[in-house]
Amino acid sequence: MKLDITQALIGQEKVNALMGKVEQAQEALEKGTCAGNDFLGWLHLPSSITPEFIEEIQAVADTLRKECDTVIVAGIGGSYLGARAIIEALANSFQWLTNKGQNPDVLFAGNNIGEDYLYELTEYLKGRKFGVINISKSGTTTETALAFRLLKKQCEEQRGKEVAKKVIVAITDAKRGAARTCADKEGYKSFIIPDNVGGRFSVLTPVGLLPIAVAGFDIAALVKGAQDMEKQTALGVPFEENPAARYAAVRNALYQEGKKIEIVANYQPKLHYIGEWWKQLYGESEGKDGIGIFPASVEYNADLHSMGQFIQEGPRELMETVVSFEAPIHPLTVAAADGDPDGLGYLSERPLADILRIARDAVRDAHVAGGVPNIGLSVPRRDEAGFAALVCFFEVACGISAYMSGVNPFDQPGVEAYKKNMFRMLKEEFS
Ligand code: PA5
Repeated sequence: MKLDITQALIGQEKVNALMGKVEQAQEALEKGTCAGNDFLGWLHLPSSITPEFIEEIQAVADTLRKECDTVIVAGIGGSYLGARAIIEALANSFQWLTNKGQNPDVLFAGNNIGEDYLYELTEYLKGRKFGVINISKSGTTTETALAFRLLKKQCEEQRGKEVAKKVIVAITDAKRGAARTCADKEGYKSFIIPDNVGGRFSVLTPVGLLPIAVAGFDIAALVKGAQDMEKQTALGVPFEENPAARYAAVRNALYQEGKKIEIVANYQPKLHYIGEWWKQLYGESEGKDGIGIFPASVEYNADLHSMGQFIQEGPRELMETVVSFEAPIHPLTVAAADGDPDGLGYLSERPLADILRIARDAVRDAHVAGGVPNIGLSVPRRDEAGFAALVCFFEVACGISAYMSGVNPFDQPGVEAYKKNMFRMLKEEFS
C-alpha cells in the first residue's frame, strides 16, 4: 500500500514536528497506558489469528454456502460495515445478476428500520434458501434485533426449525445480551466477539471474516495482508517507513492549520462502503469532547458533478484523502466509433485505466490549486490482502490520531443520547 503526502500542502517540518506526539500515542496504544485501554485487542489481532481459527470459520462458511442461496448479515455500525466494505470492494458489481450459484448472495439488514426495505427483503426471500448471520456485540441493538426477529421467523417458517438451526449463526458476546441468550437457547453455532475489541475495530474477528468467507473470498489471504500491515505499522518502525504514523501526523498537522473536514474520495463505485466504514471508524473514534476532524466521503467522477464545486471553491476547511487500487482486474479500452461523433477519437483503444489515472491527477491538481490538501492511498491490487492491509492501516492510524488529540478512541458516549430518547419514547407510546 502506498501513502503519498507530497501534495498535502503542509511543510515536512510541520509533519516531523509531530513525530514525538505520534510516538507517544503509539507507545500508549502498545503499553495500554491511555483511556480505553481495555479495548486494545484489535492492535495485535491479525498476528493472533491461527490457521485453526481460520479453518473453523471457513467450515461454518462452507455450511452456509452449501445450505443457502442467500445469506443475510444482520448488524449495524461496526457489526456490518467492514464486511460490507470488503465484500463490495472485491465482488463483481453485478454478481447478484451474474453469479450462477457459485456464491450465495450476501445481503444486509439490521442497520435501519426502513419498513419498505424490510418488507421488500422479506418478499425477495420468499422461496429462497436463506440463512442469517446475526451480529451484535452487545446483543441488544434495537435495529438489528428487530430485523433478526423478522428473519428468524421467516427462516423457521420457510425452512423448518431444524434447518434454521443450521443456517442461523450468531456472532456476539460470550455471555451477555439477547443474541447470546437466543443462540444458546436455539442451539445456533456462535462465535464470540472478544471483550477487548470494539465494534468498529472488529473486521478481523468473525464479524468480518465469516460474511467475507461466505461471499467466497479467501480469508487466509485477507488475514495475511493484515498481518503484513501489522508489521509495517508496529511501534519501533521508523516514522518515515510507517504509513499509519505518517498519515496520523499529516492529518493532525492539517487539522491544526484549520482543515477540519477530511473527505475520503474514491474513483470506483466498488469502494463506496470503504468510505462508509472509514467514516464510522474515524467519526465514532475521534468526534468527541468538542473536537475532531469531520469525516466525509465522495465518489468520483459522479460527485465531481455535484460536490466538486463545493470542494473546489467552498470554505477552505477541507483535506482530501483519495483511496484507489492500482491495477484493475479487468482491463478495458475505449471503444472505437465510426466518424468520431464526440471528438474523442484520439482516445480510441486507449486503456480506461490510463484515462482514469489522468482524470485523477487532473482533479488532484485542481483541488490542490484550490487549497485542498491531497493525501493519496493506493492498494496495489483489488484483492483480499490489499483491502485487509488498508483496514489494518486505517485502524492503527485512527488509534494514533485519536490519542494525539487526547480523546479516547474506543468509546462512543454520544451514541447513547439517541438511544435513551428512543427507548423513553417507545415506552411512553407502547407500554
Ligand atoms: O463501533 C461500535 O462499537 C458501534 O458502531 C457498534 O458496532 C454498533 O453500535 C453496533 O453495536 P452492537 O454490535 O452492539 O449491536
